[in-house]
Amino acid sequence: EKLTLSVIKADVGGFVGHSAIHPDLIDTARMALEEARQKGWLIDFHVTACGDDLQLIMTHSRGVDDVEIHHLAWQVFERCTAIARKLKLYGAGQDLLTDAFSGNVRGMGPGVAEMELHERESEPVIIFMADKTSAGAWNLPLFRMFADPFNTAGLVISPSMHEGFRFEVHDVKQHKRIFFDTPAEMYDLLVFIGASGRYVIKAVYTRDGEIGAVSSTQRLALIAGKYVGKDDPVCIVRSQGKFPAVGEVLEPFTMPHIVEGWMRGSHYGPLMPVPVRQATPSRFDGPPRVAALGFQLANGGLIGPRDLFDDPGFDEVRRQVNVLADQLRRHGAFEPHRLPMDEMEYTTLPQVMEKLAERWEALPDEPVSV
Ligand code: 13P
Ligand code: 13P
Ligand code: MG
Ligand code: MG
Ligand code: MG
Repeated sequence: EKLTLSVIKADVGGFVGHSAIHPDLIDTARMALEEARQKGWLIDFHVTACGDDLQLIMTHSRGVDDVEIHHLAWQVFERCTAIARKLKLYGAGQDLLTDAFSGNVRGMGPGVAEMELHERESEPVIIFMADKTSAGAWNLPLFRMFADPFNTAGLVISPSMHEGFRFEVHDVKQHKRIFFDTPAEMYDLLVFIGASGRYVIKAVYTRDGEIGAVSSTQRLALIAGKYVGKDDPVCIVRSQGKFPAVGEVLEPFTMPHIVEGWMRGSHYGPLMPVPVRQATPSRFDGPPRVAALGFQLANGGLIGPRDLFDDPGFDEVRRQVNVLADQLRRHGAFEPHRLPMDEMEYTTLPQVMEKLAERWEALPDEPVSV
């Protein structure tokens, strides 16, 4: 019996601005998923939020990309959008890019991370949720967890991990994928995933093909053709046994890793690991946040959550994030705080540039010296 763990998320309206979520949206989503559970569609669920993104964490036995489950999530987001419109929350329905559901929420705006697994004797899983950043934000931490022996002691000292892992990387611009085995192909992997705006780790597998991690890779800017919000990604990671220990999965977030997103999705800023109650980015609409909820799966039941960044062990990285945030903010409209021009194409900046297009004058040709 295979179990499916689905995390489907969308921003259907912020409270206040883009900083957090209104409790009525959480209540509405909980009621809707409880109805679905009673009808037998779901085994269990947990509703939460990271910043202004509503998170539906669900277990069921219908497999990944299931039409009914995706339709259910879509309907929940529509019900919550109706509440958001009534309360005139900010950007009501922001991530629902089309009015009609067409069988699969992939490519429609909501973010999706799903995996099908055989529940082990003990199955600890960690759900990462980020706000004010994009899918590439998982590249560095996933690399550290599954391929860096300075992060993950188990790669060296555990016989069950010593073979290494297989990474599935997507080119989100060309819609292609490639697999790399680590440690042998670690340098090849880094050639691509270092450019995290384009190449995104979609999944990580054990060398014998068991799924260890899966991320959401939707790039909303590319889907909508113009900026409608960074995709605020999610990621599921299995832990212990043949996978990294819980502490090895969390350890990469002790570095104030700089990601794209933040204000208007147009700036670089450090990613701050926080408990869910502090996943409320308000300083310059940030700094970008990441929350981590741990669950033990028990016959599909979600035992938990444990709010894993609610630990003083992460106080120092939070402090370092604030120091870096100050330093980057002082750059104002200058790179490398603001994203480079080609990334700004997906914002509203081109409209401003359009207005000035006529004002540009050609310079006289330089005298040519022979
Ligand atoms: P405990 O002795 O607390 O179970 O810890 C075991 C371990 O391997 C921690 O990484
Ligand atoms: P969200 O994608 O979280 O809605 O953020 C949008 C934004 O513009 C923040 O300044
Ligand atoms: Mg928003
Ligand atoms: Mg958001
Ligand atoms: Mg968003």
